[in-house]
Amino acid sequence: MDEVAIVGAGTMGGGIAQVFAQSGTSVHLIEVDRAQLERGLSTIRLNLQRAAEKGRASAEEVDAAVRRVHPSTSLEDARGCPLVVEAIFEDVEAKREVFRQLDSVCDPDAILASNTSSISITTLASATRRPTQVIGMHFFNPVPVMRLVEVVRGYDTSDETFEAVVAEARRLGKEPVEVRDFPGFVSNRILMPLINEAIFSLYEGVAGRDEIDQVARLGLNHPMGPLQLADLIGLDVCLHIMTVLHEGFGDPKYRPCPLLRQMVAAGRLGRKSGHGFYDYD
Ligand SMILES: NC(=O)c1ccc[n+]([C@@H]2O[C@H](COP(=O)([O-])OP(=O)(O)OC[C@H]3O[C@@H](n4cnc5c(N)ncnc54)[C@H](O)[C@@H]3O)[C@@H](O)[C@H]2O)c1
Repeated sequence: MDEVAIVGAGTMGGGIAQVFAQSGTSVHLIEVDRAQLERGLSTIRLNLQRAAEKGRASAEEVDAAVRRVHPSTSLEDARGCPLVVEAIFEDVEAKREVFRQLDSVCDPDAILASNTSSISITTLASATRRPTQVIGMHFFNPVPVMRLVEVVRGYDTSDETFEAVVAEARRLGKEPVEVRDFPGFVSNRILMPLINEAIFSLYEGVAGRDEIDQVARLGLNHPMGPLQLADLIGLDVCLHIMTVLHEGFGDPKYRPCPLLRQMVAAGRLGRKSGHGFYDYD
């Protein structure tokens, strides 16, 4: 596509804007917070310059990609874009409001996608008058590096919308995978119970922190132990997604570990707070 709008210039929105800009697409990067918009733009510039230093792009390509990103603080700038990818923080009411506004701003045939990790696409679609054109486009962090995009079909998502988004993900050099709209999709439905079970193993005294991570690294060939990974993702995010699985399926097998709840209550959120299962300087 020639032109897209990305809503939210945080960790994910910035990365998504970068890959679209690198693919030759003109990007309207829309953010409510001006300071964050500046930070998002400088991260994109820095990432592209690093790519140039490593010989993965020429200086001209970097300049051209940077020039394709048009910062904005108004959703009105999504007007005329055939595709909008929403990447604001994970709050269902805030996202539904953005979808409601995009629905009135955008052309009737525009596709509205969300990068949500855990919110129902069907719930977001029901805030619009175009549920057949609402879909999940779930990128992974860091976006320029990770190849997967989970393409999430809501209850009403049409085949045309699905095929257009799959084609677009491929054009970006990503591997799209079709999933249906159930809690956690596939990625978090597998990953979060694994992390939660590692926390239960620690809580129940089956093994110590280092031993649990060592088992996963050396025995299961995971690049990182589940407790290290939980610290990297953020324990609050892990608890939120476990709660979505628990409530969404109503199945006790997804019960968040009491130790996870306690650590989040104590503000031990992992790397971002300096302390989690490990301590960070
Ligand atoms: N961080 C990850 O590893 C990851 C991975 C996959 C998916 N996700 C999903 O991506 C989304 C964004 O996550 P993130 O980590 O980039 O969050 P983030 O907090 O880094 O960025 C969110 C940005 O959205 C902005 N924002 C909030 N409301 C807005 C609005 N109405 N209009 C425009 N901008 C608005 C905020 O100011 C903030 O800069 C979430 O839905 C999250 O679940 C995150």
